[in-house]
Amino acid sequence: MSLLGIQGERETGMDVRQGNVMAVQAISNIVKTSLGPQGLDKMLVDDIGDVTITNDGATILKLLQVDHPASKVLVELAQIQDREVGDGTTTVVILASELLKRGNQLIQNKIHPTTVISGYRYALKKAVQHIKEHLIIKKDNLDKELLKKVATTSLSSKLIGPESEFFSDIIVNAMLGVKTTSVDGSIKYPVKNVNIEKIHGKSITESRLVDGYSIRAMRGAQGMPLTVKNAKIACLDMTLGKFRLQPGVSVLINNPENLEKVRQREMDITKERCEKLIKAGANVILCTKGIDEFAIKYFVEANCIAVRRVEKSDLKRIANASGAKIIISFADEDGEEKIDSSLLGECEEVSEEAVSDYEFIFFKKCKKTTAQTILLRGANEFMLDEVERSIHDALCAVKRVLESNSLVVGGGCVEVSTSIFLEYAARTLGSREQLAVSEFAEALNVIPKQLAINAAKDATDLLTKLRYVHDKAQSPQTTPEEAEKLKNTGLDLLNGKIKNNFNAGVFEPAMSKIKSLKFATEAAITILRIDDLIRIEPEKQQNQPGRGGGQPMMMPGM
Ligand SMILES: Nc1ncnc2c1ncn2[C@@H]1O[C@H](COP(=O)(O)OP(=O)(O)OP(=O)(O)O)[C@@H](O)[C@H]1O
Ligand SMILES: [Mg+2]
Repeated sequence: MSLLGIQGERETGMDVRQGNVMAVQAISNIVKTSLGPQGLDKMLVDDIGDVTITNDGATILKLLQVDHPASKVLVELAQIQDREVGDGTTTVVILASELLKRGNQLIQNKIHPTTVISGYRYALKKAVQHIKEHLIIKKDNLDKELLKKVATTSLSSKLIGPESEFFSDIIVNAMLGVKTTSVDGSIKYPVKNVNIEKIHGKSITESRLVDGYSIRAMRGAQGMPLTVKNAKIACLDMTLGKFRLQPGVSVLINNPENLEKVRQREMDITKERCEKLIKAGANVILCTKGIDEFAIKYFVEANCIAVRRVEKSDLKRIANASGAKIIISFADEDGEEKIDSSLLGECEEVSEEAVSDYEFIFFKKCKKTTAQTILLRGANEFMLDEVERSIHDALCAVKRVLESNSLVVGGGCVEVSTSIFLEYAARTLGSREQLAVSEFAEALNVIPKQLAINAAKDATDLLTKLRYVHDKAQSPQTTPEEAEKLKNTGLDLLNGKIKNNFNAGVFEPAMSKIKSLKFATEAAITILRIDDLIRIEPEKQQNQPGRGGGQPMMMPGM
């Protein structure tokens, strides 16, 4: 028991900082080698033996069993980058850990944490300003080629990097296909409207894009049509089976003849419901529960497609996309059973198609929002899962560019340019914050350095060359035309050289860079501010009944 009178242990000052930095460093060391186009993958096995092979920073951290509280901040950091941007999760973790390491060194050299923190905040503000003023490329009309390059850059670091040309086409078409205008007039590209279906077999290059939403399901009977044009969709979250009385309700029958009548009535209620649906104009009926065989018969006769046991999440999405309302009961306020055609959704075509061993129902050109489906093919499950994650990253990258119309040049260009700028900016400060700003500038170099190391190239050599070019670009003696050309220089990781990455087409969403800088700084500051760690021990279970377990608290001096 400590002096505080609590069960547990307490670490303070330098010890706790050192511990935090070590824990964070350990996390960053894991993801480090997966950065960039030449980065490697990780294989993670969980406690029940499930294997995940991935290159995605957020996924790696999510699957790690992290105990240290400071490491948890980093895991959280990767998740927030994943949620808000979708890509750049490895970058943000590496950057945060480097900022933390350097901040801790400053504190060891007797610079007060508050000074380091305010220096970092200043540096962040200046860095974002520099990126917005000098490095962002604004494009009002984004052409397809440019968007494809953004997708390719995001995909290049993944398993499907070699096929990035093929997939970037699918990704850009999918994103352009889900364009929606919201009520306030802003244009949005919701990634969730792109449905990814993973199907075993064939090679990944046989993946394809289908215009519309799809679910893995079959028509209720072979007699139903394979395709229905001008579909009116009814989304039912209830059963279309034989009507049953509520549990607890009993009916007493005296005459055996009446028993048959009751049975008939039970069937008739469902029959009437089916007829009401058909009369309201529905020709596609989706049901989250079962549909009895006799009910299926009515739909076959009316040339409708009826599908049983549709996943509820799928039903919601289809209802959203087609403008349907989910029906949970046929009864209206007065208890009358009726169905109105306004409850039905619409889409141009509903059809069943077989892909590999599975049947899919496609909903093309829905009335309300557009949806797209990517049918992914692949040899094994690990690969399909990783391809799905990579495609998600690239979809997010394209979305950010489409929504903000702004991008930056990748391959270490932004980091080095900002680092040089901050070094100049640091010198204009007459206070101790200067040291923190310089360290911030130095920390940014970790990204190009790691990119070069992962590509098995001479990192020091490449970094010095890159810094020389960017220094020249920002020097007052350089003419604006020349500076314009030089400022887009980044790494060419295939050949181990530096080159103009604007011409090479290495583009990333500007938002990804700015947000990763912001999130990484915030995370580093959160951890640097900690100078006390109090770990409460779990209460020991006492065997005496009625005492509620736990030890009585003892105050110092008692
Ligand atoms: N062709 C390329 N040449 C040089 N650098 C590249 C190229 N393609 C991508 N990069 C760089 O690779 C980095 C992105 O790598 P990666 O996709 O592995 O990490 P991330 O996006 O931070 O994390 P994650 O994708 O795991 O969420 C960026 O800094 C980007 O500039
Ligand atoms: Mg990436």
